Amino acid sequence: MKPEFRTEVPADWKGIRIVGVPDLLKQESSNLSPAVREALNAQNFTGTPNSFLPLILQKQDRVDNLLLAGLGEVPSLTPLQSRRFGALLADAVRDRSAILFRTEDVFPGALPDEQTLMHVLNGFCARQYSFDRYRSDREKTVAQRLVVVDARAASLAQLWERQGHIVDAVLRVKDLVSEPPNVLYPESMADMAAQLKNCGLEVTVFDEQALAELGMGALLGVGQGSARPPRLVALRWTGDHNPDNPPVVVAGKGITFDAGGLSLKTRPHMQGMKNDMAGAAVVMELLRCAAENRLPLNVVGILALAENMPSGKALRPDDIIRTMSGKYVEILSADGEGRLVLCDALWYAVSRLNPSCVIDIATLTGAMSTALGWQKAGLFCNDDALAEELYRAGEQTSERLWRMPIDADYDDLVPRGDADMENATFGQNARSIFAAKFLEKFVDGRPWAHIDIAGTAWSEKDTPMARKGATAFGLQLLYQFLERRASA
Ligand code: BES
Ligand code: MN
Ligand code: ZN
Repeated sequence: MKPEFRTEVPADWKGIRIVGVPDLLKQESSNLSPAVREALNAQNFTGTPNSFLPLILQKQDRVDNLLLAGLGEVPSLTPLQSRRFGALLADAVRDRSAILFRTEDVFPGALPDEQTLMHVLNGFCARQYSFDRYRSDREKTVAQRLVVVDARAASLAQLWERQGHIVDAVLRVKDLVSEPPNVLYPESMADMAAQLKNCGLEVTVFDEQALAELGMGALLGVGQGSARPPRLVALRWTGDHNPDNPPVVVAGKGITFDAGGLSLKTRPHMQGMKNDMAGAAVVMELLRCAAENRLPLNVVGILALAENMPSGKALRPDDIIRTMSGKYVEILSADGEGRLVLCDALWYAVSRLNPSCVIDIATLTGAMSTALGWQKAGLFCNDDALAEELYRAGEQTSERLWRMPIDADYDDLVPRGDADMENATFGQNARSIFAAKFLEKFVDGRPWAHIDIAGTAWSEKDTPMARKGATAFGLQLLYQFLERRASA
């Protein structure tokens, strides 16, 4: 659904008209007619957030369909409150086909700025999403029309150009993460990524042979147990006026299904492991967004795609593999596959792309949700300035990060065994930090950040902002980060 922006209410409007009502207990002054006030009292409608009341009003010769929407204490709407309000509104008008959002009616007395309206619309569109493509009994969703009436229609429409691309990207990440692993696997995801050349991205897909030529023994090792071969995709957006300026590189873990390989997961742990490619989905849509919004920055996205399966050809615990960096890794657990596919992706970034910084995003460790729950993602970073930039972007988009330590105290965490390092530990302590310390060995001392979204990529229950399922966590935060970099 695309909002329409107009300066006037369309003639003969028949749909529902949103009327915002501030908290009636807290605020005396509101320009509601006595008739409406009376109706409100009769219905015990107080104007607190998440309270809605449909009303039918007769005015001389016409009838108005109103939906009163509680605003709480206006007008200081933060970005999060705005998105929340938009989401609640979307829920309340789910079965309506035409919605009139006249800013003056929705926010009586205090016109919000244009950016705040963008947040409201963002929340509205995001809340409508559900993954129902495979349900033949899915409700025939009403074709919705949302008309925004505001004197600033032209500049709002222009802002929505940009914001709409971000919202679309969020919804597409949710689609990708929700797709079942028999539909979405390394080759099919690489094919989808290849389509992005139509947006102006330069796309390179490395197949098994190309991966062998690059020496990516870790990515190949993880993929070798599956009937679906692995892929690495590089998506390049050259938006900077100087194409030679070092790019920001963002790499995503793209395990399209994580059975654990020969270190097979048990049933409750294997269920849901289609979402182990959430990082790669975020990176793919992030690059699309950069291209669609013509972001003035050089960015390269890397998708490390493989399926982690057990078979006669699968990587064995005890195997020693040679990574692209030349370092040897002894496999202790075939289920520690994320760090393996990423170590080759990171090395590719630092050895071939001359990055200004490298960021990876990955559903890497179950221990992440043990530490931080589903509310925040872990941020591991070897550069304080970069960590601060990412942290702030997370606060601004409500995709919040919490910094975890990877300082020298943890240097001995990754054991050497018979090779340069082992990929896992059977100890229970500091497992997320272990994985980060493992990755750190493949960034050659460059500014690098690792975002572990294992706890935040998927929501087990409905929230006010979104339904249960894929969250697209990281897309908005990383886009905000890139925009800040572009304007720095
Ligand atoms: N994909 C999992 C991590 C995960 C767990 C993501 C739960 C989302 C929800 C990862 O590949 C994994 O299996 N990690 C192991 C590592 C261990 C074997 C070294 C873990 O966290 O237990
Ligand atoms: Mn695993
Ligand atoms: Zn995994």
